[in-house]
Amino acid sequence: MLSALELLEAVAALLPLFAWCYKTSSHREPYPPGPPRKPVLGNLHQLPESHPWLTWAEWSKVYGPILYLRLFTRQLVILNTAKSAYDLLDARAEIYSARPEAPFNGNICNRKHAVFSISDKHPRFKVYRRLLATNLNPRAIVGYRDVQASEARALVRRLLESPDAYDEHIRRNAASVILYLAYGYSVQDGNDAMLQLVRDASLSVEEAVKPGRWMVDSFPILQFFPEWLPGTSWKRIGASFRATFDRFRDIPFAWTKEQIAKGTCTPSFTSRCLLREDGRRLTAEEEDIVKWVANGLYAGGSDTTGAAMGSFFLVMARYPDIQSRCQAEIDAVCGHERLPTLDDRDALPYVVATIKEILRCYPVANMGIAHRCTEDDVYNGLHIPRNSVVIANIWALLHDEATYPDPYTFNPERFLGPNPQLDSRKFAFGFGRRACPGLYFAEASLFVNITHILAALIIRPGLDEYSGQDITPEPRHSSGVVSHPEPIKCRITLRSVAARRLFD
Ligand code: HEM
Repeated sequence: MLSALELLEAVAALLPLFAWCYKTSSHREPYPPGPPRKPVLGNLHQLPESHPWLTWAEWSKVYGPILYLRLFTRQLVILNTAKSAYDLLDARAEIYSARPEAPFNGNICNRKHAVFSISDKHPRFKVYRRLLATNLNPRAIVGYRDVQASEARALVRRLLESPDAYDEHIRRNAASVILYLAYGYSVQDGNDAMLQLVRDASLSVEEAVKPGRWMVDSFPILQFFPEWLPGTSWKRIGASFRATFDRFRDIPFAWTKEQIAKGTCTPSFTSRCLLREDGRRLTAEEEDIVKWVANGLYAGGSDTTGAAMGSFFLVMARYPDIQSRCQAEIDAVCGHERLPTLDDRDALPYVVATIKEILRCYPVANMGIAHRCTEDDVYNGLHIPRNSVVIANIWALLHDEATYPDPYTFNPERFLGPNPQLDSRKFAFGFGRRACPGLYFAEASLFVNITHILAALIIRPGLDEYSGQDITPEPRHSSGVVSHPEPIKCRITLRSVAARRLFD
């Protein structure tokens, strides 16, 4: 039996639904097609438990490239083709560049000022993007080459020392490079508390932004209900996420400020912003902006590059011929006397194509990050409602037979020759005004790590303990915003004594 309070809560929660139904029934064009919806729930009952991008791609074969779904009052528009993603998120960026209003993540977890969540109409947005562009453009990132190269060498040394922990090593490498870029912080060891901050935050973020997970995202009024009311345990979960996110944002920033005060800071994004040339102290608002942008760098840059590196190990263990061809190319250009550098990129087209194919076959962000449409719109005769959550199904775009023939075959050659297929980076890093600002930095990190590893090491599949045969690893990727491959069994060994000397 419902108590009177619970009944009141349910009625209060449903009021906005009735208001919303009334408001949204007054347009002439039809919604994009989609699977049949139930009253009130919409498509909630059909949401897949995991890997929704695969289900959306299947649905789009039945209903067409643009899908419309509803989860209570939340309207989702899923774009399953490159053309629709470009036409809306790029060409109509003026109205497709906001982020979804998500009271759970924004208000309860205190992430509304995070780079990823802030609306493009918020006065801070331009400042955030300008700071990101200034620090991550191709010229600015040249300044990070040394740290990327020295972290790549350290990665190879760790892989040699404890190859079975390769997944831990690549995650540490990705986080270390970004911690240095954002805060000037050098990671001490694998148990460094700063590394734990990003591990905790990424687990919480996966939950906090899951579509349909939090009732309050469909019924914002719930956020004002006091915690003593029955059925509000989600508020306690939100409070614990918030504590995790606050630590993730505040601790590294406070560390850099402390180093500045002691006169021992290493130049970084944060120190350069705080130590102005004219000597003026930043206002509280300015300092808060720097704190959020530095946090955006750390949040955006570590898990993503780590996931792509995980897929690299998977690919090398699955396709020894591709590995040998990459190594032959590196040997021909660099010999055994020196390690590859970013200046070798043009001379290593097969390696570059392999990286593009990793990003295509195993996208790091299969659903990108959701955009929001801020005006009612009409596209190809279909009504895209104001405030709908618009998601580019990046996985579907990168596995579209029309753009990438034979899309399930891992084939770097598709990006070579006189008629290469469309560069996968065009989709893998998102769209329009919200496209990933870390693209050049990510590419440079991947190239340096991958070429260093291939110059020194051989990655083979693990062996079956009974038959002694290779076990070719199957690709199994996690389902979240950032999709990590399951760690595989593999054997990592030194290629030659000469290679070892390069890392001494
Ligand atoms: C393989 C590596 C990476 C991939 C595949 C990737 C992919 C993406 C995607 C798909 C988005 C969402 C774009 C959209 O909304 O349309 C994004 C946003 C973002 N990325 Fe990356 N990223 C990577 C690495 C990085 C790195 C290294 C950094 C920082 C150094 C970074 C910082 C960011 C930030 C700050 C945003 C939010 C932009 C905004 O909301 O305006 N990313 N990334």
